[in-house]
Amino acid sequence: MSDPELVGYSTQDNVAVLTVNNPPVNALSPGVPQGVAAGVERANADEAIHAVVLIGSGRTFIAGADIKEFGKIVSGEKGAEVSLNPLLNGIEASEKPVVCAIHGTALGGGLETAMACHYRVAVPEAQVGQPEVKLGIIPGAGGTQRLPRLCGVAKAAEICASGRMVSAQEALESGILDKLVEGDLLEGAIAFARERAASGEPPRRTRDISDRFGDKAQYEPMLAGIRQECAKRARGMTAPLKNVEAVELAPTLPFEEGLEAEAKIFQECLFSDQSKALIHVFFGQRAVGKVPGIAKDTPLLEIKQAAVVGAGTMGGGIAMSYANAGIPVTLKETDQERLNAGLSVIRGNYESSVKKGRLKQEKAEQIMSLIRPTTDYDTFAEADIIVEAVFENMALKKQVFAEIDGVAKPQAILASNTSTLNIDEIAAVTKRPQSVIGHHFFSPANIMPLIEVVRGKETSDTVIATSMNLAKRLRKTAVLVGNCFGFVGNRMFEQYQRQAQFLVEEGATIEQVDRVLREFGMAMGPFAVADLAGIDVGCRVAEENPDQIPDGARTALVACQLYEQGRYGQKTGAGWYKYDGRKPIPDPEVEALIRKSAEDAGIEQRTIGDQEILERTVYALINVGANLLEEGIAVRSVDIDMIYIMGYGFPAYRGGPMFYADLVGLKTIYDRVQHYHNVHGLWWEPAPLLKQLAKPTGSFSHFAEADAQ
Ligand code: 3HC
Ligand code: NAI
Repeated sequence: MSDPELVGYSTQDNVAVLTVNNPPVNALSPGVPQGVAAGVERANADEAIHAVVLIGSGRTFIAGADIKEFGKIVSGEKGAEVSLNPLLNGIEASEKPVVCAIHGTALGGGLETAMACHYRVAVPEAQVGQPEVKLGIIPGAGGTQRLPRLCGVAKAAEICASGRMVSAQEALESGILDKLVEGDLLEGAIAFARERAASGEPPRRTRDISDRFGDKAQYEPMLAGIRQECAKRARGMTAPLKNVEAVELAPTLPFEEGLEAEAKIFQECLFSDQSKALIHVFFGQRAVGKVPGIAKDTPLLEIKQAAVVGAGTMGGGIAMSYANAGIPVTLKETDQERLNAGLSVIRGNYESSVKKGRLKQEKAEQIMSLIRPTTDYDTFAEADIIVEAVFENMALKKQVFAEIDGVAKPQAILASNTSTLNIDEIAAVTKRPQSVIGHHFFSPANIMPLIEVVRGKETSDTVIATSMNLAKRLRKTAVLVGNCFGFVGNRMFEQYQRQAQFLVEEGATIEQVDRVLREFGMAMGPFAVADLAGIDVGCRVAEENPDQIPDGARTALVACQLYEQGRYGQKTGAGWYKYDGRKPIPDPEVEALIRKSAEDAGIEQRTIGDQEILERTVYALINVGANLLEEGIAVRSVDIDMIYIMGYGFPAYRGGPMFYADLVGLKTIYDRVQHYHNVHGLWWEPAPLLKQLAKPTGSFSHFAEADAQ
């Protein structure tokens, strides 16, 4: 069935114009591909029509298949599965030339539709790409077979395996596009279509092009290089290699057989857990910005100037984030020496970007000029937002907030970068608790894409909405969480790290624990992370918050001994590992310290299997996550997932800890948590929500959805 609302049909003299109208991104939702195919058929049946132009209305050409439909296909919903191939093949079979006119992005099924047309023109700002790999799949509508026929096997494999955007200029040079149109796109496309019709040549069908694949002897080593790159950049992900595999088939099989082979690999990928997880992440990244209970039209405060207190590790990175976004920022330290030290780190970072060719010298200087160093509060009254990033010490934070409350303008947002402390207690020293909020950045703050935004009990909706919006300007994703010790991220992480330490005390080795979690997909193992973040940081927080350890609970024995020995991690050249530069080397001294401490405490040594290591760390995360969800500290399970993927190196292809739990099955997780509770006691008290959902249909995602309604 074709729907005239979805694909308009009009004529301009002898050219039929098909206009896709499916906002916001003209995805190929049911009715759209059918509409395009029907329009081409209609044009072919009309003698007065000599050529067809396909164009998108609104901000973009077709941005891909409708990703929402994939979930329906996988869950076996009736009627959801319609192969695009017959429709695209129908377009390609047109006797009259079909010209595709691209603006915005032609992505995934959008580029596949464009390649089924005979010619492609685009505005110079357009971009094309096959980003399916980011959803754990391969192009499923001929992309892996048509793209190498246009731009060669090696280039097509690289484009599909990386999923990157390709500029119109590059697409033109590599044969994907035929022409760039300056000025009005539709006019240019119609003129091009008329030329093709007038030439009298038969339309050029991509399936018939066979002289652009390239030499096997040349592209084979290039494919080997791409595969190596995939293993490095997308460790643990199956889709990148599947993309290369499918593209490599193109020159070896007749086109129709190539499509069949592609369809088989596509199905295999689509039904995989990795694809389910990555699709969850695609929608999750967009969902976290929409906070239940905060109205879309909440008025926002204007942020034109910022100020940061503390130019240490975090303050420097936060100031860089503001300056990178073009927002002038004052950076305050206690004295000139510390200020200079902070500035020299910032300058070093920009110099390194210039050296690597990522930033032009003049641009670096212009950005640096937006950072205004100071040792006093004189200009703080101009700031629309003040971010505190001083040591993690409640008394100091209170003192700083009292000071900035005295100098800030009435509307200013007062944000704390605290990673654990109580936002309400900090807000209470000001006369404007409604303006106080947590902006928990992650290290390095100029690079990491996450801000955990912590709402206090009095934080106003305007301050929350402005914070969420501001994060986008800083090119980061904000996730809103409630106030408790460690908020979502660190409260969960603490338990994960604790279990990692208990495991080594019971007989696992540091390398084994780190290896198991890296093999699971974590960016780094827990001990490597502790050495990077600083063992001193965690120990100081623990020292300051003794009440966080319940009476009678087992405590980790070794971390604080390392701290006392000055083994803070990478920054002192030794921690859980010793370091040769940044390379970690297992240290027998630490192993001996662990064994001795365990023996003194009467902890029995045993061989620990990899599965136990995985469960004790990852299931511990999940159990705390369930508590946070029930307490309302995390609004939805997807919020926890995004925090873990963007802030803690959790593998996106597992969808985040809560989605991973849903995949494993909450009954299985609960049984293991209960088992560890029986064996290890207190820290493993099963979360009531986990217990409640421990049945075949139980899922954190569904709980959160039901709860939000
Ligand atoms: N299907 C369904 N919804 C989509 C979509 C798609 N392909 N692409 C975007 N959307 C939705 C988003 O979820 C969002 O919805 P919301 O407003 O309800 O949150 C809305 O469109 C706008 O999207 P963005 O916020 O991402 O808008 P931007 O302007 O920032 O970005 C974009 C636009 C670059 C097109 C970006 O949306 C994007 O990268 N989309 C996905 C492209 C993609 O992966 N295409 C391949 C799909 S798979 C495929 O085609 C398989 C084929 O081979 C068979
Ligand atoms: P840091 O020790 O590197 O820097 C703190 C800086 O604050 C020091 O340079 C100090 O001189 C300065 N300072 C102290 N009192 C001041 C005052 N009154 N006025 C101006 N400057 C003052 O510490 P870091 O790591 O940057 O941590 C800062 C905050 O960020 C802490 O709350 C920490 O918990 C949090 N955080 C740290 C992360 C990390 O990985 N280091 C990650 C996320 C949050």
